[in-house]
Amino acid sequence: MDNSNPNMPGTHQAFKAHITTVLGALLGAPHFDPHTSFFLLGADELILFRLLNKLNQLYPNVQLSWRDINEHSTMAALAHCMTQRDKTIQAANIKEQFLGAQPAERIRIMENHLCDAISHALNSSVTLTSDRLGSGFHHHHVYMELTWVFKRDFQCPIYKTEIEQFENISQLATYFTNELEIRWGLRSPEAKWRAAMHGSLAKSEEVSWDLEPPSSKRVQNVVLLLSAPRSGSTLLRLMLSRHSQLFCPPELNLLHHKELSSWVGNRLNRFPRDSGVIQNLMGLIGFRAAECEEILDAPASHTMSISKVYQRIIAESGQATLVDKTPSYAKRIDTLRRAESLFEKPRYIHLIRHPCAAIESFVRHRFEKLIGKPGEDPFLCAEKTWLIRNQNILNIANHVEQNRYHQIRYEDLVQNPHQVMESLCVFLGVPFEEAVLHPYDRPNLIGGPGDYDIFQHDKIEPQLADNWQQSRQTATLCAETLELAKLFGYCI
Ligand code: A3P
Repeated sequence: MDNSNPNMPGTHQAFKAHITTVLGALLGAPHFDPHTSFFLLGADELILFRLLNKLNQLYPNVQLSWRDINEHSTMAALAHCMTQRDKTIQAANIKEQFLGAQPAERIRIMENHLCDAISHALNSSVTLTSDRLGSGFHHHHVYMELTWVFKRDFQCPIYKTEIEQFENISQLATYFTNELEIRWGLRSPEAKWRAAMHGSLAKSEEVSWDLEPPSSKRVQNVVLLLSAPRSGSTLLRLMLSRHSQLFCPPELNLLHHKELSSWVGNRLNRFPRDSGVIQNLMGLIGFRAAECEEILDAPASHTMSISKVYQRIIAESGQATLVDKTPSYAKRIDTLRRAESLFEKPRYIHLIRHPCAAIESFVRHRFEKLIGKPGEDPFLCAEKTWLIRNQNILNIANHVEQNRYHQIRYEDLVQNPHQVMESLCVFLGVPFEEAVLHPYDRPNLIGGPGDYDIFQHDKIEPQLADNWQQSRQTATLCAETLELAKLFGYCI
């Protein structure tokens, strides 16, 4: 893909060409009708968010919004919108204004910015004095627009659960002003944050490994790709998905559940029903449209066991081996333990990354807001997550035959992908295929849960292995983390 001159104004032709290339890759269909709605072409909200993200990377001055992409939801209409916008908008650098302002002024800037974004999302003017914005404030498009605006204008990921806590713009502005001030060092975090840091970081769970006999036939040919968050698992998944004998879909998250009903219920809690995410996953499982509707209407009535769901996914994929990349499995040892009773001698790929790099990335993405306790120190949460998840994965490695466990370092993967993938193919018992080294050529299986930034890269980028060193944290790591990092061969 041509990523040249990202800051240059675009032409109508260039906009059309880029939308076609990016959306074509995201949909896995290079040719599509320019006048057909993105939704009818099969795009869901995640795909549209990734399209927006990529177009913003290519044309930051166009300042596209979430509403734009929903209101101009064909290739032709969006290219037209971008052309109009490019001529009229002088991008006001809101981040610089915010950083340069006095503390009281920062809140005002944030309030105005939020009012503009919410008014834009709702297509009706809201003001600060609207004390309680009622259901409009919690409208799905408001969440999506704000998520996008913070990413575009402040390079700061925010999450729906954060927005949900507040009932009016004023409270929201105070909260996010505070968050951004801490992020950019304009304010110190509360002292309590680091107080709990040293002493003890929780140990991974102690669990009995006497497995109960499985209730049904164990599922064959399953590989779990496990890691702590921000270890490069999406990249490795894309690489593996290019192999002709492997099926490596977006995060399945199935192993947490016993039955399909509970999995669907969980999905519906996290994503709106009409966002297409569930339908996409149902597509993987092999249900037809009418069946999907039925399952979505009455999830509780679908008692198909997760073991059967896995069997259907494998049968539907037509590939010999399923690689299930779901990092959250490593959160609990009993989830990993279920793998041993559900699957016939499953194999484990353990992707590791330097703790400082994984922690830096975790904090930059504010993952503590997603998986931490309220008010938890982001660094503590990141370190604990790295430590416990890697300990849990090692724990399972210690209980299975050596030939079922394969460890890969992210740093080696990006700096020496050929060698790493060759040895991974040997472990998986498949021939090495050159395609795995080109994850972004005709990528498939890009949709589905996972990193919003998946499409910000066009190739394997070896320099990202050491990037974290530029922002090296001063915080010291606890003894257990240091010990595990040493065991993995990392220098701190
Ligand atoms: P950074 O946030 O440090 O950049 P995961 O997919 O497990 O969440 O991991 C995300 C990390 O993988 C990110 O780390 C990201 O840069 C890295 N990554 C994703 N695509 C990559 C690519 N094409 N080349 C190198 N690293 C990549």
